[in-house]
Amino acid sequence: MHSQINIKTRRLLLREFIKDDLAAVQSYASDSEVVRYMEWGPNSVDETREFISRVIANQDEKPRLKFELAILIENKLIGACNLTITNATTKQAFIGYCFNKTYWGKGYATEVAKKLLNFGFNQLKLHRIYATCDVGNIASKKVLQKIGMTKEGHLRENKIIRGEWRDSFLFSILEQEYNNIKTV
Ligand SMILES: CC(C)(COP(=O)(O)OP(=O)(O)OC[C@H]1O[C@@H](n2cnc3c(N)ncnc32)[C@H](O)[C@@H]1OP(=O)(O)O)[C@@H](O)C(=O)NCCC(=O)NCCS
Repeated sequence: MHSQINIKTRRLLLREFIKDDLAAVQSYASDSEVVRYMEWGPNSVDETREFISRVIANQDEKPRLKFELAILIENKLIGACNLTITNATTKQAFIGYCFNKTYWGKGYATEVAKKLLNFGFNQLKLHRIYATCDVGNIASKKVLQKIGMTKEGHLRENKIIRGEWRDSFLFSILEQEYNNIKTV
């Protein structure tokens, strides 16, 4: 039996995925506007089912490196977020998030991303947390700035999104920077 992650933010709950989340995930994962800057999607039902099976399997990893969590408001699943440890020795991880369009523009991504930093630095004792976003993804870039990350670089053509080479911004925050923000 794995230990279940349950994290409360001011307005939201982050919890482990379950099989029954299929329809709620499919409603945003099949939306071409939502996946515009993602390498995956728009998903078929089978692709979403495969995603859910994969993230449920990750819950049993030992040590656990991949944390993909469902985002809920009042028992309604409205998106997903993740923290993935890429190097356990140097304590590096990246984060990501994706929301149903109905819930954009309410500060939810910022609220979730802040909690992922808290989880990464305080629980997992990480040293550096990074994130990338497509250069055109202004909302995501703003979220990364709002949570205190610094732009480290511009990655040229590091992704292929539906057949098109795309550039990304790379952002990060270090443990000591996070601790300084918290005490301000
Ligand atoms: C990116 C995403 C997660 C943002 O979620 P959100 O809950 O709307 O984000 P927040 O409300 O916390 O903050 C978004 C910020 O971007 C701003 N913004 C949104 N769209 C914008 C646009 N087109 N131009 C300029 N600013 C924009 C918002 O006003 C807000 O800034 P503010 O707090 O200064 O007003 C959401 O749009 C999403 O799920 N997109 C699809 C998936 C995705 O791209 N994920 C990120 C991959 S890197």
